[in-house]
Amino acid sequence: MPLRTAKPKTVNTIAAGSLLSINDLSLDEISSLFSLATQLEAMPHVKRVKRLDGHKIALLFYESSTRTRTSFELAAKSLGAMTTLVSDKSSSIEKGESLHDTGVTLRALGAEAIILRSNLSGAPWVLARSTQLPVLNAGDGMHEHPSQALLDLRTMLVRLGLAKKALNEKTLRGVTITITGDILHSRVARSNAMLLPRLGARVVLCGPEALLPEQALALSPGVTIERDFNRALSQATVAMMLRIQRERLVGMEIDAAQYIDCYQLNTERLAAFAPKALVMHPGPMVRGMEIDSAVADGPQSAVQEQVHHGLVVRMALLDRAFNGGRA
Ligand code: CP
Repeated sequence: MPLRTAKPKTVNTIAAGSLLSINDLSLDEISSLFSLATQLEAMPHVKRVKRLDGHKIALLFYESSTRTRTSFELAAKSLGAMTTLVSDKSSSIEKGESLHDTGVTLRALGAEAIILRSNLSGAPWVLARSTQLPVLNAGDGMHEHPSQALLDLRTMLVRLGLAKKALNEKTLRGVTITITGDILHSRVARSNAMLLPRLGARVVLCGPEALLPEQALALSPGVTIERDFNRALSQATVAMMLRIQRERLVGMEIDAAQYIDCYQLNTERLAAFAPKALVMHPGPMVRGMEIDSAVADGPQSAVQEQVHHGLVVRMALLDRAFNGGRA
């Protein structure tokens, strides 16, 4: 008699509480998330550590990170969770273990949610389907960085005095965000360009053809291209700068002196073309290249506030993954 085995069920769902794309969240859900972030920030430590008391979260980082990894880890710990870091440099990923096998291994070890940074676009969807655990996308290849878009939005709302306004398709009406630099390789640019027009903002992308190839980008409504940085800056309510991602250039040569001349945000340019604009940068910054130190550390800069909002927003994302977003 043939040995019968149960056919494994193909499960193709994504666990509730995951965040794979910024488009997973409605504006109402983002609004609730920001309210939760505010409540968690104000919550006494003794109460906050009970939110995820004893839960186990794995940080699976296949690419280097300072801000995203540390803020997710500190956010998890401040809510009482236990975390473990798995990086490609010191794990069996180095020996060729697949993302699927790594994910189900972490689940078998007790991980209840996974935060993933990967150099492969789409990897968070693979992991979410493999593990059926909540997966938070901490940046996938040249695709998306949804928690960065959320922290950027919260930073803008606070600095522009709009934090108390309801989030809807008019919240950022009249606001222009210029995003300048290596748009082609930037998941930050992509997630922001997906989110900000939904709130009524104009997004102006700026950079040289090599880093902003019009043909390769499908621009959504509300997003335009302006090649001249000075003209882009003169429209900016918010000037978001991006570094050139040298690790992804693969053979592409960028003339640094020419780039600095055309696209660096320095004191003179800021004073001449955007004296009131809010300056943002997701980090890591390459000072002296896309931004000079006086601007990065100057009064118009919100760079350190972005980092702070990153911690608070990621607390709310983790709380949502386990508690469904209810305070
Ligand atoms: N903004 C950002 O993703 O920074 P890290 O690469 O340091 O996480």
